[in-house]
Amino acid sequence: MHEVHVVVTGASRGIGAAMARRWLSLGARVTLVARQVAALEEIASGGKGFVIGADLSAPDSGTDWVDAAEAAMGPIDVLVNNAGVQLVGPTVEADVTEGERLLRVDLLAPMRLTRRVLPSMLARGRGTIVDVASMAALAPTPGMFYYNAAKAGLAAASEALRGELRGTGVHVVTVYPGPVDTEMAQRALAKAGDGAARHLPMGDVDTLARKVTAAVDDRRDRVIYPASYGLARHFPQVTRWLMDRLTPPFRGG
Ligand SMILES: NC(=O)c1ccc[n+]([C@@H]2O[C@H](COP(=O)([O-])OP(=O)(O)OC[C@H]3O[C@@H](n4cnc5c(N)ncnc54)[C@H](OP(=O)(O)O)[C@@H]3O)[C@@H](O)[C@H]2O)c1
Repeated sequence: MHEVHVVVTGASRGIGAAMARRWLSLGARVTLVARQVAALEEIASGGKGFVIGADLSAPDSGTDWVDAAEAAMGPIDVLVNNAGVQLVGPTVEADVTEGERLLRVDLLAPMRLTRRVLPSMLARGRGTIVDVASMAALAPTPGMFYYNAAKAGLAAASEALRGELRGTGVHVVTVYPGPVDTEMAQRALAKAGDGAARHLPMGDVDTLARKVTAAVDDRRDRVIYPASYGLARHFPQVTRWLMDRLTPPFRGG
Protein backbone atom coordinates (compact mmCIF):
# COMPACT_ATOMS: atom_id res chain seq x y z
CA MET A 1 0.00 0.00 0.00
CA HIS A 2 2.91 2.36 0.75
CA GLU A 3 5.02 1.31 -2.26
CA VAL A 4 4.82 4.90 -3.40
CA HIS A 5 7.23 7.73 -4.13
CA VAL A 6 6.42 10.69 -1.88
CA VAL A 7 8.12 14.11 -2.23
CA VAL A 8 8.05 16.25 0.93
CA THR A 9 9.29 19.83 0.67
CA GLY A 10 10.51 21.45 3.88
CA ALA A 11 11.44 18.02 5.26
CA SER A 12 14.44 19.14 7.34
CA ARG A 13 12.46 19.92 10.51
CA GLY A 14 9.01 20.49 11.99
CA ILE A 15 5.90 19.19 10.27
CA GLY A 16 7.73 18.20 7.05
CA ALA A 17 10.32 16.13 8.95
CA ALA A 18 7.53 14.35 10.85
CA MET A 19 5.66 13.57 7.61
CA ALA A 20 8.85 12.31 5.92
CA ARG A 21 9.65 10.08 8.93
CA ARG A 22 6.10 8.74 8.96
CA TRP A 23 6.13 7.82 5.26
CA LEU A 24 9.63 6.30 5.58
CA SER A 25 8.44 4.17 8.51
CA LEU A 26 5.52 2.97 6.36
CA GLY A 27 7.94 1.78 3.65
CA ALA A 28 7.45 4.60 1.12
CA ARG A 29 10.27 5.92 -1.07
CA VAL A 30 10.64 9.51 0.08
CA THR A 31 12.39 12.45 -1.57
CA LEU A 32 13.21 15.05 1.06
CA VAL A 33 13.65 18.64 -0.13
CA ALA A 34 15.00 21.67 1.80
CA ARG A 35 18.16 23.77 2.16
CA GLN A 36 19.68 22.03 5.21
CA VAL A 37 21.05 18.92 3.55
CA ALA A 38 22.68 17.41 6.66
CA ALA A 39 19.34 17.39 8.47
CA LEU A 40 17.64 15.83 5.44
CA GLU A 41 20.30 13.10 5.24
CA GLU A 42 19.84 12.17 8.88
CA ILE A 43 16.07 11.80 8.39
CA ALA A 44 16.45 10.01 5.02
CA SER A 45 18.69 7.37 6.64
CA GLY A 46 15.58 6.05 8.46
CA GLY A 47 14.39 4.29 5.27
CA LYS A 48 14.32 4.59 1.48
CA GLY A 49 15.12 8.30 1.39
CA PHE A 50 16.57 10.51 -1.34
CA VAL A 51 17.85 13.99 -0.53
CA ILE A 52 17.56 17.16 -2.61
CA GLY A 53 19.15 20.39 -1.44
CA ALA A 54 17.13 23.22 -2.98
CA ASP A 55 16.19 26.79 -2.12
CA LEU A 56 12.54 27.12 -3.11
CA SER A 57 12.70 30.90 -2.78
CA ALA A 58 14.96 31.28 -5.80
CA PRO A 59 12.82 32.81 -8.57
CA ASP A 60 14.38 30.57 -11.19
CA SER A 61 15.28 27.59 -8.99
CA GLY A 62 12.78 25.77 -11.17
CA THR A 63 11.83 22.19 -10.75
CA ASP A 64 14.84 20.63 -12.45
CA TRP A 65 15.52 18.46 -9.40
CA VAL A 66 12.26 16.62 -10.07
CA ASP A 67 14.01 14.73 -12.89
CA ALA A 68 16.75 13.54 -10.50
CA ALA A 69 14.19 12.52 -7.89
CA GLU A 70 12.16 10.53 -10.42
CA ALA A 71 15.28 8.90 -11.88
CA ALA A 72 16.26 7.72 -8.39
CA MET A 73 12.85 6.86 -6.89
CA GLY A 74 10.39 6.48 -9.78
CA PRO A 75 7.45 8.65 -10.84
CA ILE A 76 6.09 10.87 -8.08
CA ASP A 77 2.90 9.46 -6.55
CA VAL A 78 2.47 12.01 -3.76
CA LEU A 79 3.70 15.62 -3.78
CA VAL A 80 3.59 17.32 -0.37
CA ASN A 81 3.90 21.10 -0.67
CA ASN A 82 4.94 21.80 2.92
CA ALA A 83 7.99 24.13 2.91
CA GLY A 84 7.06 27.48 4.32
CA VAL A 85 8.25 30.61 6.05
CA GLN A 86 6.34 33.07 8.20
CA LEU A 87 6.71 36.79 8.90
CA VAL A 88 5.00 38.21 11.99
CA GLY A 89 4.86 41.86 12.90
CA PRO A 90 3.41 45.24 11.97
CA THR A 91 2.80 45.36 8.23
CA VAL A 92 3.99 48.96 8.05
CA GLU A 93 7.45 47.76 9.13
CA ALA A 94 7.55 44.62 6.95
CA ASP A 95 10.55 44.15 4.69
CA VAL A 96 9.12 44.04 1.17
CA THR A 97 11.95 41.86 -0.15
CA GLU A 98 11.37 39.32 2.65
CA GLY A 99 7.64 39.46 2.05
CA GLU A 100 8.00 38.71 -1.63
CA ARG A 101 10.46 35.91 -0.81
CA LEU A 102 7.76 34.44 1.46
CA LEU A 103 5.28 34.54 -1.43
CA ARG A 104 7.75 32.58 -3.56
CA VAL A 105 8.31 29.83 -0.95
CA ASP A 106 4.74 29.56 0.40
CA LEU A 107 2.71 30.14 -2.77
CA LEU A 108 4.62 30.22 -6.06
CA ALA A 109 6.87 27.19 -5.43
CA PRO A 110 3.90 24.91 -4.54
CA MET A 111 2.03 26.10 -7.65
CA ARG A 112 5.10 25.58 -9.83
CA LEU A 113 5.70 22.08 -8.41
CA THR A 114 2.07 21.09 -8.80
CA ARG A 115 2.11 22.25 -12.40
CA ARG A 116 5.31 20.22 -12.94
CA VAL A 117 4.03 16.88 -11.57
CA LEU A 118 0.42 17.06 -12.83
CA PRO A 119 0.95 15.92 -16.45
CA SER A 120 2.63 12.68 -15.34
CA MET A 121 0.03 12.01 -12.63
CA LEU A 122 -2.81 12.57 -15.12
CA ALA A 123 -1.15 10.33 -17.72
CA ARG A 124 -0.90 7.57 -15.09
CA GLY A 125 -4.43 8.25 -13.80
CA ARG A 126 -3.28 8.45 -10.19
CA GLY A 127 -1.46 10.59 -7.68
CA THR A 128 -2.04 12.93 -4.78
CA ILE A 129 -1.05 16.52 -4.16
CA VAL A 130 -0.99 17.61 -0.52
CA ASP A 131 -0.96 21.35 0.12
CA VAL A 132 -0.02 22.45 3.63
CA ALA A 133 -1.91 25.74 3.94
CA SER A 134 -2.73 27.14 7.38
CA MET A 135 -5.53 28.22 9.64
CA ALA A 136 -4.44 31.67 8.41
CA ALA A 137 -6.20 30.82 5.14
CA LEU A 138 -9.51 30.49 6.99
CA ALA A 139 -8.94 33.01 9.78
CA PRO A 140 -6.39 35.58 8.57
CA THR A 141 -4.18 36.64 11.47
CA PRO A 142 -3.43 40.34 12.12
CA GLY A 143 0.29 40.97 11.75
CA MET A 144 0.82 38.29 9.08
CA PHE A 145 0.20 40.34 5.91
CA TYR A 146 2.22 38.26 3.42
CA TYR A 147 1.62 34.91 5.14
CA ASN A 148 -2.19 35.32 5.12
CA ALA A 149 -2.12 36.14 1.40
CA ALA A 150 0.15 33.21 0.54
CA LYS A 151 -1.81 30.65 2.54
CA ALA A 152 -5.24 31.88 1.39
CA GLY A 153 -3.97 31.74 -2.20
CA LEU A 154 -2.58 28.24 -1.79
CA ALA A 155 -5.75 26.98 -0.08
CA ALA A 156 -8.00 28.46 -2.79
CA ALA A 157 -5.90 26.96 -5.58
CA SER A 158 -5.79 23.63 -3.78
CA GLU A 159 -9.53 23.37 -3.05
CA ALA A 160 -10.44 24.30 -6.64
CA LEU A 161 -7.88 21.96 -8.19
CA ARG A 162 -9.46 19.02 -6.35
CA GLY A 163 -12.78 19.77 -8.06
CA GLU A 164 -11.12 20.25 -11.43
CA LEU A 165 -9.41 16.85 -11.17
CA ARG A 166 -12.45 14.87 -10.02
CA GLY A 167 -12.71 11.65 -12.02
CA THR A 168 -9.09 11.72 -13.21
CA GLY A 169 -7.68 9.56 -10.40
CA VAL A 170 -5.56 12.46 -9.14
CA HIS A 171 -6.60 13.76 -5.73
CA VAL A 172 -5.80 16.90 -3.74
CA VAL A 173 -5.65 17.10 0.06
CA THR A 174 -5.65 20.58 1.64
CA VAL A 175 -4.16 20.77 5.14
CA TYR A 176 -5.08 23.53 7.59
CA PRO A 177 -2.84 23.33 10.65
CA GLY A 178 -3.61 25.52 13.62
CA PRO A 179 -0.66 26.09 15.96
CA VAL A 180 1.55 22.98 15.91
CA ASP A 181 4.64 22.84 18.11
CA THR A 182 7.58 23.65 15.77
CA GLU A 183 10.25 26.34 15.47
CA MET A 184 7.86 28.41 13.35
CA ALA A 185 5.08 28.28 15.95
CA GLN A 186 7.47 28.99 18.83
CA ARG A 187 8.84 32.07 17.03
CA ALA A 188 5.29 33.40 16.52
CA LEU A 189 4.38 32.70 20.15
CA ALA A 190 7.48 34.50 21.38
CA LYS A 191 6.05 37.61 19.70
CA ALA A 192 2.75 37.12 21.53
CA GLY A 193 4.45 37.81 24.89
CA ASP A 194 1.94 37.09 27.63
CA GLY A 195 -0.97 37.73 25.26
CA ALA A 196 -4.00 35.48 24.96
CA ALA A 197 -2.56 33.86 21.79
CA ARG A 198 -0.26 31.92 24.15
CA HIS A 199 -3.26 29.96 25.38
CA LEU A 200 -4.50 28.74 22.00
CA PRO A 201 -4.66 24.92 21.68
CA MET A 202 -1.39 23.58 20.21
CA GLY A 203 -0.92 20.33 18.28
CA ASP A 204 2.11 18.08 17.80
CA VAL A 205 3.88 17.18 14.56
CA ASP A 206 3.56 13.40 14.87
CA THR A 207 -0.21 13.46 15.26
CA LEU A 208 -0.52 15.80 12.27
CA ALA A 209 1.78 13.55 10.21
CA ARG A 210 -0.43 10.52 11.02
CA LYS A 211 -3.52 12.48 10.00
CA VAL A 212 -2.00 13.56 6.70
CA THR A 213 -0.80 10.06 5.69
CA ALA A 214 -4.25 8.67 6.59
CA ALA A 215 -5.96 11.42 4.56
CA VAL A 216 -3.84 10.50 1.53
CA ASP A 217 -4.67 6.78 1.93
CA ASP A 218 -8.40 7.45 2.45
CA ARG A 219 -8.57 10.21 -0.19
CA ARG A 220 -10.00 12.73 2.24
CA ASP A 221 -10.39 16.29 1.03
CA ARG A 222 -8.86 18.19 3.94
CA VAL A 223 -7.20 17.93 7.32
CA ILE A 224 -7.91 20.51 10.02
CA TYR A 225 -5.71 20.00 13.09
CA PRO A 226 -6.07 20.53 16.05
CA ALA A 227 -9.73 19.62 15.42
CA SER A 228 -11.06 22.52 17.52
CA TYR A 229 -9.96 24.84 14.71
CA GLY A 230 -12.73 23.33 12.56
CA LEU A 231 -14.66 26.29 13.99
CA ALA A 232 -12.81 28.50 11.51
CA ARG A 233 -14.24 26.61 8.55
CA HIS A 234 -17.82 26.52 9.76
CA PHE A 235 -17.98 29.90 11.51
CA PRO A 236 -15.38 32.08 9.76
CA GLN A 237 -16.80 35.38 11.05
CA VAL A 238 -16.63 34.21 14.68
CA THR A 239 -13.05 33.04 14.20
CA ARG A 240 -11.97 36.29 12.54
CA TRP A 241 -13.48 38.24 15.42
CA LEU A 242 -11.55 36.03 17.89
CA MET A 243 -8.24 36.30 15.98
CA ASP A 244 -8.59 40.05 15.87
CA ARG A 245 -8.81 40.15 19.66
CA LEU A 246 -6.29 37.40 20.49
CA THR A 247 -3.38 38.65 18.41
CA PRO A 248 -2.84 42.40 19.01
CA PRO A 249 0.84 41.81 19.98
CA PHE A 250 1.51 40.48 16.45
CA ARG A 251 0.71 43.87 15.00
CA GLY A 252 2.66 45.74 17.61
CA GLY A 253 -0.47 46.55 19.69
N1 LIG B 1 3.74 25.11 12.94
C1 LIG B 1 2.58 25.72 12.80
O1 LIG B 1 1.97 26.13 13.81
C2 LIG B 1 1.96 25.87 11.44
C3 LIG B 1 0.62 26.31 11.40
C4 LIG B 1 0.03 26.47 10.15
C5 LIG B 1 0.71 26.15 9.00
N2 LIG B 1 2.01 25.71 9.08
C6 LIG B 1 2.69 25.42 7.82
O2 LIG B 1 3.29 24.14 7.89
C7 LIG B 1 4.46 24.11 7.08
C8 LIG B 1 5.64 23.61 7.91
O3 LIG B 1 5.82 24.51 8.98
P1 LIG B 1 6.70 24.18 10.28
O4 LIG B 1 5.98 24.70 11.44
O5 LIG B 1 7.14 22.77 10.24
O6 LIG B 1 7.93 25.19 10.01
P2 LIG B 1 9.49 25.07 10.30
O7 LIG B 1 9.72 24.21 11.48
O8 LIG B 1 10.01 26.45 10.29
O9 LIG B 1 10.03 24.28 9.00
C9 LIG B 1 9.94 24.89 7.73
C10 LIG B 1 10.52 23.98 6.68
O10 LIG B 1 10.47 24.68 5.41
C11 LIG B 1 11.76 24.65 4.82
N3 LIG B 1 12.04 25.87 4.06
C12 LIG B 1 11.94 27.15 4.49
N4 LIG B 1 12.38 27.99 3.54
C13 LIG B 1 12.78 27.22 2.49
C14 LIG B 1 13.35 27.51 1.22
N5 LIG B 1 13.62 28.77 0.84
N6 LIG B 1 13.64 26.48 0.39
C15 LIG B 1 13.40 25.21 0.78
N7 LIG B 1 12.86 24.87 1.96
C16 LIG B 1 12.57 25.87 2.81
C17 LIG B 1 12.73 24.53 6.01
O11 LIG B 1 13.93 23.90 5.59
P3 LIG B 1 15.37 24.61 5.42
O12 LIG B 1 15.47 25.72 6.42
O13 LIG B 1 16.33 23.47 5.65
O14 LIG B 1 15.39 25.08 3.99
C18 LIG B 1 11.96 23.62 6.95
O15 LIG B 1 12.20 22.27 6.61
C19 LIG B 1 4.65 25.54 6.56
O16 LIG B 1 4.14 25.66 5.26
C20 LIG B 1 3.83 26.37 7.53
O17 LIG B 1 3.41 27.57 6.98
C21 LIG B 1 2.64 25.57 10.27
